[in-house]
Amino acid sequence: MANVTLTINGIKVIVSKGTTVLDAAARAGFFIPTFCHDPEIPRFGACRICVVEIAGMRNLPASCVTEATEGMVVNTESPAVAEARKTILEMLLANHPQDCLTCEKNGDCRLQDYSFRYGVKGPGFEGKRHEYPLDDSNPYIVRDMNKCILCGRCARTCAQVEGRAVIDFTYRGFDTKIAPPMDTTLAESDCVYCGRCLAVCPVGALTYKRMAGKGRAWEIEKKPVTCTFCDSGCLFDLNIKDGKVIGVTAGSPGQGRPLCLKGRLGLELLYCDDPADPQMKRDGEFVKVSWSDALGLDGVLDKIRKIEGK
Ligand code: SF4
Ligand code: SF4
Ligand code: SF4
Ligand code: FES
Repeated sequence: MANVTLTINGIKVIVSKGTTVLDAAARAGFFIPTFCHDPEIPRFGACRICVVEIAGMRNLPASCVTEATEGMVVNTESPAVAEARKTILEMLLANHPQDCLTCEKNGDCRLQDYSFRYGVKGPGFEGKRHEYPLDDSNPYIVRDMNKCILCGRCARTCAQVEGRAVIDFTYRGFDTKIAPPMDTTLAESDCVYCGRCLAVCPVGALTYKRMAGKGRAWEIEKKPVTCTFCDSGCLFDLNIKDGKVIGVTAGSPGQGRPLCLKGRLGLELLYCDDPADPQMKRDGEFVKVSWSDALGLDGVLDKIRKIEGK
């Protein structure tokens, strides 16, 4: 594939044709903030936090949807760029709960990180705010749409990676909201709780219910492991605090963000000292049996032998 050479912050960078300015900058080691961009789903270009200055262009283009071209001269942190990003953050905060102290995402939130980076002290504008009820109607995911910045990553991931399209943009203008059809709760929707949407949410709008209140981001050690519940071999992170696993979260991009309920809930067996009695079907009904029965002649081994024809 043909290459193009551009200059980013004074450094010559060679990338293949079709590469975005965002990826070219990353290749050269320059950080550009992103909210709506995700490497696993098609380009979207909605949030504009990734704007850069490009010589000869009147406006500040979004680097995640602008392709690098031969001779392009890019500045990723000019005063105009910093000012634009600051304004975007102030506008987002104008309709955002000032809730960092108790937010589950404190310490792992892009809105918080970028506000710090660009010196944003709070909302730059006064205006109407949403007061959506919390959706904790299901055992796995808490949806707080008051904290949603409408980046669309969750909906696009659900539709384009998971292939389900359980959630999407609903309503219009100021009332635009990410929700299942008819603005129901997740519990009433076709959600399978794979957690992909949760894994890509850059703020505290979608959080993992089972880990609520169990630890702050900086206290948690993440250890990548391969799930052994089936032969799909999904990779995920054990979240460990003080030597104890407090949650299971999907791995990083390209490392197996999917996670089924077995992978998520298998965690509970780790600390289960008193597992429930096994059950076997007898005369069409499940009845409690002893472990030796379950694993003995009438149990699993017997069935395996029958399947093997022994
Ligand atoms: S989502 Fe981020 S910015 Fe918003 S309250 Fe939580 S930590 Fe703070
Ligand atoms: S948990 Fe999975 S199925 Fe449910 S909304 Fe999120 S991505 Fe879609
Ligand atoms: S819920 Fe999270 S991922 Fe979805 S649009 Fe809102 S901020 Fe983005
Ligand atoms: S990250 Fe580029 S427009 Fe959102």
